[in-house]
Amino acid sequence: MNRKIIVANWKMNPQTLDEASRLLDGIAQGFKDADSKKLELVLAPPFPYLYESKKRLPRGIGLAAQDVSFSERGAYTGEVSALMVKNAGCDYAIIGHSERRWKMGETDETINLKIKQALAAGLKPILAVGEKEEGADLTQIIGTQLAKALDGVASLEDITIAYEPVWAIGTGKPDTPDGALSAALLIRKIVGNIYDNYQSENLSVLYGGSVNADNVKSFVFQNGINGALVGGASIVAQDFTKIIKLILNM
Ligand code: 13P
Repeated sequence: MNRKIIVANWKMNPQTLDEASRLLDGIAQGFKDADSKKLELVLAPPFPYLYESKKRLPRGIGLAAQDVSFSERGAYTGEVSALMVKNAGCDYAIIGHSERRWKMGETDETINLKIKQALAAGLKPILAVGEKEEGADLTQIIGTQLAKALDGVASLEDITIAYEPVWAIGTGKPDTPDGALSAALLIRKIVGNIYDNYQSENLSVLYGGSVNADNVKSFVFQNGINGALVGGASIVAQDFTKIIKLILNM
């Protein structure tokens, strides 16, 4: 079996550094002695917890920021640059999450700038794409999101794409394994047209949207899906540890 990637997107949780540290320690405990050939585990805590997370994280667990600024530096109150999170110990940055697209008004053009900032700082972007309405025209929507986000990006080598249908996020109503697989294959086809077959085949594509211990296997055991981006089930150490163990015992 190919190595799977599980990314924990904590979103705006938990509310204190103490809780964040306990959650992190609980997850690290569940990952102890894990076979890193089977699973790449990445945690994406909120910005204020990144430094402490880096200190506590055992080797073998990666760290991601949930976002980076579109700008390298300057007078942008409230922004956090790609280099800042790189220096805080991040390896990855989630970019273009639907909550930022739809709740914060982030555009494909801004997402493109963020991808470029992340790459320039040495971070590996996890680019999230997906449709808002169930049954929407995926070829058109994901095609546009990918073409615009990747405009001027020379190679996909450091990029992971996460397919997250908005209607499946936080609803307890995940996509079907077939639906997720066909979206992942569509993503490969689109990037194959923009880049080439080699990059399309070697791209990591994740599924996200109401993933939990009961359904994670049905998504990530399929060829064509490399792992999962997990929200709600990643902020309870016990639940997330179950997911980790299922992947490791695959
Ligand atoms: P849930 O797993 O809570 O549906 O969230 C998915 C998500 O948005 C991960 O980025």
